[in-house]
Amino acid sequence: MSTALLVLAAGKGTRMNSDLPKVLHPIAQAPMLAHALRAGDALEPERKLVVTGHGADQVRAALADIDESAEIVLQEEQNGTGHAVAVARDALCDFDGDVIVLYGDTPFIQPETLERMVAARADHDIVVLGFEADDPGRYGRLVTTGDTLERIVEFKDASDAERAITLCNSGLMAAKASVLFDLVARLGNDNASGEYYLTDTVALARASGLSAGVVRCDQAETLGVNSRAELAAADAIFQAQARARHLENGVTLMMADSIYFALDTVIGRDTVIEPHVVFGPGVTVESGATIRAFSHLEGCHVSRGGIIGPYARLRPGAELAEDVRIGNFVEIKNATLDAGAKVNHLSYIGDASIGQASNIGAGTITCNYDGVMKHHTEIGARAFIGSNTMLVAPVRVGNGAMTASGSVITKTVEDDALAVSRSEQVNKPGAARKLFDLLKAKKRKRAERAL
Ligand code: UD1
Ligand code: MG
Repeated sequence: MSTALLVLAAGKGTRMNSDLPKVLHPIAQAPMLAHALRAGDALEPERKLVVTGHGADQVRAALADIDESAEIVLQEEQNGTGHAVAVARDALCDFDGDVIVLYGDTPFIQPETLERMVAARADHDIVVLGFEADDPGRYGRLVTTGDTLERIVEFKDASDAERAITLCNSGLMAAKASVLFDLVARLGNDNASGEYYLTDTVALARASGLSAGVVRCDQAETLGVNSRAELAAADAIFQAQARARHLENGVTLMMADSIYFALDTVIGRDTVIEPHVVFGPGVTVESGATIRAFSHLEGCHVSRGGIIGPYARLRPGAELAEDVRIGNFVEIKNATLDAGAKVNHLSYIGDASIGQASNIGAGTITCNYDGVMKHHTEIGARAFIGSNTMLVAPVRVGNGAMTASGSVITKTVEDDALAVSRSEQVNKPGAARKLFDLLKAKKRKRAERAL
């Protein structure tokens, strides 16, 4: 059975107190919406639709980065969850599989849970994801008879007896597209909120002789985000889960609580991560590497045996082969470093390629930007770049070549050549002593005058 994800994300998120639409606020460096879509990806959906209203342009722009295959459906006025589903009807008019309704602001739904919902569709026309709540609060309540779901009652509309029910509605639902759209078309809004409730589809379905069932999940999965405080709490939960996962996978984490992971961080076995390391999006670290304290990595790849930091910054496009060493206060951007290359101290390497086993001396800078355009620096294998070399790109230093310390390199250095590009040293015998005497005399005079 093919599936379509329908992610409801049109709400305003007033309590976030933000110009950014709620679903674009990040958890683990990825918008909440990306978490929901990622969970749904486990179902290999044929279509993915995001219902957006508030901040629709921002959501559309962000979706291009998050998931190009996702489509936008505009809900101009937010008249309730049932209305949000109804506006997707046209977009899905020739889709005849199952629709899975998700929320853009519940980032912890597990793929296995969605799979269980899809499986339960074999027994029921409508499947609702429910959970036993410690504190049912204002959640909708699931009214059941045995295994059958009779209806969902919203807190505002519930009687005291119904409010005593602890089985709550997560908001997620699965049904055949034609069934779902037929039901939402029949919804009314005669209720405490004056909204079209998606939840009312259950009672309508039952009245039409369709069956409805509940799949249960842990309440932790249904955690929603409505405020910055809840966003921070959700991020902390994600980080705790990520740490547990990496430890389980054989990664050593020193002072684990100080390490920050992104949604998509991949780390190989027997890699050691020292304290206070931050992973931005798009990082892969292979096995047996060491990421030393206070390093910041994003959009990069560290191969086996690499040693990075302390205090290193790997930016997008840093592609490091086996056993590369990156030391303190070194920044690497859009650059490939072949096996065994070393950049150990105080350098900027951007828009560059560095050959195997080359050594880049302290303070080396690839001057990649001329104020308008970016240019490439190429360094061959086994080259030795002297400390404080400025490599003015575009420029090439050949295999086995050397540059003298303090050189400004603007022209190609051939293989095995030594480039020296700095003014020649002149020594003046005794001149230092004379200069010292002169300066000390000046200082004395100044002190006398001040008296
Ligand atoms: C909803 C459920 C409730 C459930 C709870 C779980 C209904 C009527 N109630 O209530 O049973 O326990 O979620 O969190 O469904 N949205 C739109 N367009 C709209 C309205 C909402 O896209 O017109 C989106 C929101 O952005 C949000 C989601 O749908 O992502 C849920 O909306 P929300 O207003 O939070 O519903 P609740 O009142 O919490
Ligand atoms: Mg809500």
